[in-house]
Amino acid sequence: MTDTPKTPGPDGSGPDTTGPKKPAPRSHGRLKISATLKPRALMEHRPALASAWEARVITLFPAAFPGVLGESLTGKALAEGLWQLETIDLRGFGVGKHRNVDDTPAGGGAGMVLRADVLAAAIDAASDGVPTDRARWPLVYLSPRGRPFDQATARRFAACDGITLICGRFEGVDERVLEDYGIEEVSLGDFVMTGGEIAAQAMIDAAVRLRPGVLGNAASTEEESFAHGLLEHPQYTKPQEWRGRAIPPVLLSGHHGEIARWRRAEAERITRARRPDLWKKHRDPENGDG
Ligand SMILES: C[S@@+](CC[C@H](N)C(=O)[O-])C[C@H]1O[C@@H](n2cnc3c(N)ncnc32)[C@H](O)[C@@H]1O
Repeated sequence: MTDTPKTPGPDGSGPDTTGPKKPAPRSHGRLKISATLKPRALMEHRPALASAWEARVITLFPAAFPGVLGESLTGKALAEGLWQLETIDLRGFGVGKHRNVDDTPAGGGAGMVLRADVLAAAIDAASDGVPTDRARWPLVYLSPRGRPFDQATARRFAACDGITLICGRFEGVDERVLEDYGIEEVSLGDFVMTGGEIAAQAMIDAAVRLRPGVLGNAASTEEESFAHGLLEHPQYTKPQEWRGRAIPPVLLSGHHGEIARWRRAEAERITRARRPDLWKKHRDPENGDG
């Protein structure tokens, strides 16, 4: 993967509508790279691993990737070709000498809006070779107006062949693109960031760690927060006593049944206290609003 756009305007005069639409393959995997590569090198142009889950990210800041995704387990899995990451540089589709990607909001007001024609050209380029069935390959705009991201959405994304994520900037994107492409809007939470890149990395991380082989211990995703509609029980490790605080004796008892019961009771207590919405849904899945 490189930062160069797939189909930039040939002379800087605007999106290329005549040039070749087929992007160079930019996947990477275990056959071609080693885990010792630097994070950016994980995204260098390399032959596709056809079966690997793939994230394509349309962004004005391709250098922000892989970012934290290049570290630890997601980075190792990226190096091993268990998943692929490709950025599509929105700037390359900009219009005019300065490759403008935005303009003032129709009707006035503060800020700038990403242009429909520019974003559409980037989406078309990013869609090359991607299944048109959105159930297999979602097309998502990161947006504070979107449906809140949750573990169920992470599971849905992880079960797909891949995903294309659009990172907004400024005041967001021209609404007509969202309508025309039937784009799904997903929010990281009820707050506003300056761009979609952090949200994209958060969602990719949550999905990738659910892919087979990414976590050392698959059981950890079965027991963690949200797996059964509850927050996770407290965790402890050594030292056995720290600043006068002891590990709950039951966890040192070796009695697996009692440990499981204790953990379950703690998960319920914490969920009830901290997340009444989740607790209500857990107790009454039909009528819960969480
Ligand atoms: C400053 S925000 C735009 C906010 C927009 N004017 C609004 O009020 O809804 C710029 C970009 O950051 C991203 N962004 C900001 N907050 C986000 C969130 N909570 N979840 C996902 N993306 C977010 C979106 O891609 C958005 O287009």
